[in-house]
Amino acid sequence: MTSILFDVFYRSYDNFMKTFRLDDHEAILSQLRALAAKGRPGPPEPFKIADIGGGTGVLAHSLLELGHDVTIIDPAQRMTAIAKERNPRVTVINEALAKVSPEPLYDVIILRDCFHHIADQGPALSKLSQILQDDGLLIIQDFSPNSLRAQLLFTLERCLLEKIYPIPSSDLAAMMARAGFSGTIIRLNSRDYLAIGTKSSKQSTKEKPAEVEQ
Ligand SMILES: C[S@@+](CC[C@H](N)C(=O)[O-])C[C@H]1O[C@@H](n2cnc3c(N)ncnc32)[C@H](O)[C@@H]1O
Repeated sequence: MTSILFDVFYRSYDNFMKTFRLDDHEAILSQLRALAAKGRPGPPEPFKIADIGGGTGVLAHSLLELGHDVTIIDPAQRMTAIAKERNPRVTVINEALAKVSPEPLYDVIILRDCFHHIADQGPALSKLSQILQDDGLLIIQDFSPNSLRAQLLFTLERCLLEKIYPIPSSDLAAMMARAGFSGTIIRLNSRDYLAIGTKSSKQSTKEKPAEVEQ
């Protein structure tokens, strides 16, 4: 199905993100630095990263520049064509997450400003668990539905006929625990949060992530 936002206004997308200061991905890079510094058992750097809904590839480009191997999984061909122009080293799979084959390929999976665009969020988390290596890291950056600034953004998306499914961080945390992730919610500001989950074969899948401030 055509998305007005991502198939028609794709050329204005990067400027829009910059103007409204929606393009900051420093919190995600900081999580990757922490993971690399942990020296935990598991994959050494560079990481094999899936950027789900990676769009025009601003984050993917930063990750590639840091030496990581990045695959964007996103059905919006015009958005990802910009990502390819920005950095030809990015791998692009033009599929929705639900259609990706369930193989445990990635050390890290990132969804930045994408999870609230996905309708079937429980099954999506199960799929993310399937394509993530054991002890791999899931990072979801999204918006708190209670925030006024997020509500403005959601209104704009709805005006462009985008179907969206905003989710409070506490609901996402519970959903992630049910899908077998153990983790944490990090509140970045009144609008944005990060949900961090580790797919662990050793820990209980019932464990509920704690909420912390940053
Ligand atoms: C708001 S953009 C975010 C782009 C980029 N992550 C960023 O932060 O600038 C949301 C992206 O998610 C993609 N998307 C929506 N539903 C998706 C799904 N089910 N699977 C994968 N990508 C999806 C859209 O095509 C779009 O490119």
